Amino acid sequence: MTVLLEGEGLGKSYGGVRALDGVSLRLSAGEVLGLIGPNGAGKTTLVDLLDGAQPADRGSLSIRGRKLTGPPSRRARAGLARTFQHPHLALDLTVRENVLLGAAAPKLAGIGGLVAGLVAGAFRPSGARFDATLHRVADALELGDLRRRCGDLTLGEQRLVEVARALAQEPSVLLLDEPFAGADSGGIAAISAAIRAVRAQGCGIILVDHNVDIVASLVDRIMLLRSGTVVFDGDPAECLASPEMQDVYFGTGGENVVA
Ligand SMILES: Nc1ncnc2c1ncn2[C@@H]1O[C@H](COP(=O)(O)OP(=O)(O)OP(=O)(O)O)[C@@H](O)[C@H]1O
Ligand SMILES: [Mg+2]
Repeated sequence: MTVLLEGEGLGKSYGGVRALDGVSLRLSAGEVLGLIGPNGAGKTTLVDLLDGAQPADRGSLSIRGRKLTGPPSRRARAGLARTFQHPHLALDLTVRENVLLGAAAPKLAGIGGLVAGLVAGAFRPSGARFDATLHRVADALELGDLRRRCGDLTLGEQRLVEVARALAQEPSVLLLDEPFAGADSGGIAAISAAIRAVRAQGCGIILVDHNVDIVASLVDRIMLLRSGTVVFDGDPAECLASPEMQDVYFGTGGENVVA
């Protein structure tokens, strides 16, 4: 299988907190990697280092064998898309506009951050290609009326728009940070179906979630993080039955409770 994304020895501290301590990972085309672990284990920090939202203190990253560096805009152009644990939508813009900003993100990557921000603020992408992408992801995630203002949506609806915006980038690597949080059963089904569909097209996906049953039903492999280090990396069923899993969540060392 083609290796899409590789990270080696990634580390990050915030002041005195060692959020990530020497994490290595490999993601192949068409693979879904589940990233689980208790609150504060470093899952979001790892996603932030992968997409460039935070600079790594240590370690290196590559995508399809080429060094992956720079801000999120540059990484978007390299094929990376992400969602945020707390949705990052432009609340004054409509569902349609937010999704189209996702479709346009790789195109905006060549220009500087300030200019990109100004362009994005006034941006109204149009054209048949953008429309086709918009309607494809809107149908897949059952977004409903695209003229609604995102600030008027429930958290569950915002979650779907957040995932749709990332899908509209047509990424080769998709990072999903708790995409099911706040979604209702219909939303969970739609997001799960969308994950399976892009996986079948060869996209590599990292899925962060606390619901281990949902994770186990979708992923090919699980990485279990604890206090910034990987304590298990392998088969989902083996992970769930492993002593490491028992210890992290139920053992005396299980310092954090699953949300
Ligand atoms: N921007 C930041 N500034 C300071 N400390 C941070 C920052 N981001 C994360 N941390 C700390 O780094 C550690 C790892 O946090 P992180 O958010 O990556 O964990 P997580 O596994 O995503 O947790 P959760 O399941 O609650 O989302 C925690 O101790 C957290 O408090
Ligand atoms: Mg997190």
